[in-house]
Amino acid sequence: MTDAVLVHTQDAVAWITLNRPDAMNAINEDVRRLLPEALATADADPQVRAIVVRGAGPRAFCAGADIKEFVATPQPTAYRQARVHRHWIAAFDRAVKPVIAAVHGHCLGGGLEIALACDIRIAATDALFGLPETGHGIIPGAGGTQRLTRVLGLGLALDLVLTGERLDAQRALAMGLVSRLASPDDLQQAAGDLARRIAARPPLATQFAKEAVRSGAELSLADGMRLESDLCSHLVDTQDRVEAALAFQEKRPPRYTGQ
Ligand code: COA
Repeated sequence: MTDAVLVHTQDAVAWITLNRPDAMNAINEDVRRLLPEALATADADPQVRAIVVRGAGPRAFCAGADIKEFVATPQPTAYRQARVHRHWIAAFDRAVKPVIAAVHGHCLGGGLEIALACDIRIAATDALFGLPETGHGIIPGAGGTQRLTRVLGLGLALDLVLTGERLDAQRALAMGLVSRLASPDDLQQAAGDLARRIAARPPLATQFAKEAVRSGAELSLADGMRLESDLCSHLVDTQDRVEAALAFQEKRPPRYTGQ
């Protein structure tokens, strides 16, 4: 039994907590197994409309891979095979619901890769971001080199990957690595408010919008426009679209069912 990852759901929001505070929530095999399970469960739960990922304890969202596991060098082929077909971080790409990273303190290596795999990043002003991997003789292996480039562009991503330098929260906001800041005391509240605001919107539209943005980013503009148009058409006959219009007309709050 391990409680390396905790989940609880409240007000349509699933809170997934990386829970190894004594090790700064470093990612060990338990986390690699439990985090995808927690995400898949929350994503499949009809009560859940938004997911928040956060770190336990006062000092870190997540300080990356558990360095204490590094001393044992695995056989490369077995290591690759364990990851190539069902890499733990790919669980984020399978999630259809919006996933928010609520980041405080150290957000390093795999911790930054988790945050990058989320849809929205909100950070406390004490957050510190970095990809220290090359300093350990490895490279980011859970999307750091790929997703950071897509979020920041080639020049900034290469700078951070090759130097391993830390970015503070203000610079992260200025660069677009995070889209919102909160004081450390307010982060949980701010992340919860954000998640509940998204959860209050028509769920199918939210999920289709996420798919349009995420999948479209990998396509040519023409293919992305076609995808957007297809997804848009599929929403035309949903009950929630009619409910949104009726609620507007009748000047009352909408009641969305996800149908
Ligand atoms: N793996 C395993 N344990 C880690 C860890 C990691 N990635 N990061 C921190 N910890 C543990 C430390 O070993 C320490 O545990 P201990 O008290 O049992 O010795 C505890 O978390 C606190 O860390 P400590 O280094 O004492 O705190 P600090 O404030 O001096 O430094 C960091 C904080 C995050 C800067 C520092 O711990 C660090 O550089 N960690 C490694 C980050 C990293 O390179 N991650 C990428 C790996 S590829």
